[in-house]
Amino acid sequence: MQQPSTASLIASIPKVELHLHLEGAVGHDVASKMRRRYEPDAVIEPPSAGFKDLETFLAVYDGICRYMRDAADFRDATWHALSRCAASNVRHVEMFFSPDAHKGVAYSEMLDGILDAFDAAKSEYGMSALLIPAHNRELGPEHGMAFLDKVLSDRRERVVGIGLDYAERPNPAPPFARMYERARAEGLRVTAHAGEDGPAEYVRDTVDLLGCRRIDHGYHIVDDPELVARCRDLDVLFTVCPTTTLSTTIWRDLSARDHAIRRMIDAGLRVSIATDDPGLFMTELNREYTLLAENFGLSEAKLREIALNGATHGWLSEEGKKDLLQRCAA
Ligand code: ADE
Ligand code: ZN
Repeated sequence: MQQPSTASLIASIPKVELHLHLEGAVGHDVASKMRRRYEPDAVIEPPSAGFKDLETFLAVYDGICRYMRDAADFRDATWHALSRCAASNVRHVEMFFSPDAHKGVAYSEMLDGILDAFDAAKSEYGMSALLIPAHNRELGPEHGMAFLDKVLSDRRERVVGIGLDYAERPNPAPPFARMYERARAEGLRVTAHAGEDGPAEYVRDTVDLLGCRRIDHGYHIVDDPELVARCRDLDVLFTVCPTTTLSTTIWRDLSARDHAIRRMIDAGLRVSIATDDPGLFMTELNREYTLLAENFGLSEAKLREIALNGATHGWLSEEGKKDLLQRCAA
């Protein structure tokens, strides 16, 4: 019997997306439409493929945020992002957004728009979704406490945890320990970007001082074998994003034997493949799986195992996970 192509095999696997930034999921067409709403005569540049580094990327990301100003903008952007997920056979999404990047928009208004689109995705695609407000670490730990006040002031069932993102290297984890301790005490789940362009020590501090058992990226862990062993024992989940490594990390060749994601998988760390910012990087989840399958030679069993990690180690309730596993099996 003829084997299915890698792409059709991957398309058939039900998936979970755990590292997706709403604002980074906005594609050029949707971003242009949103901007024209406020600046009808704007001259819009064509999209660029890839970015020089994390800072260059973040400047473009902030540019998109300026044109998300009311609940309808948030609903449209979220709907677009979830529809793209559905096209990659995604059954559950845990989505970051950046409350502080949208000056002058009330937190509750952002939630209203995003959660409306979550409802629509549930009825249209049978897709579940959770929301993760992420603190911009460049704004510092004091602002982090104010961010947390805001999150705690308007709790919704599907807002289950917090994240930490933006420029990592100048803004390591330790100053955020109190904020994270308080978030955990309030029953929020916690994750943080670490080891993307920061060293292994930043990953260790994110595990030990912030109490994270989920790390976004984490690549520089490969420089610290003792930490690799400990994270394996602690069953830490790493959300890894192949395409964005080519712009935001030192690993710019997925075919290289020493690419960090390959070494993480070989070392037996638990990973979930994700897109990070699919609109800005012009990718989608099926493509991210295909890139790893083809470059690393992953077997069908390994691809299915990785896809399942997202379901078993995401932040749904036990009941929600049971339902998700049934939806994935159907
Ligand atoms: N915000 C969106 N994508 C990001 C990334 N890869 N690293 C840090 N902050 C981000
Ligand atoms: Zn990210």
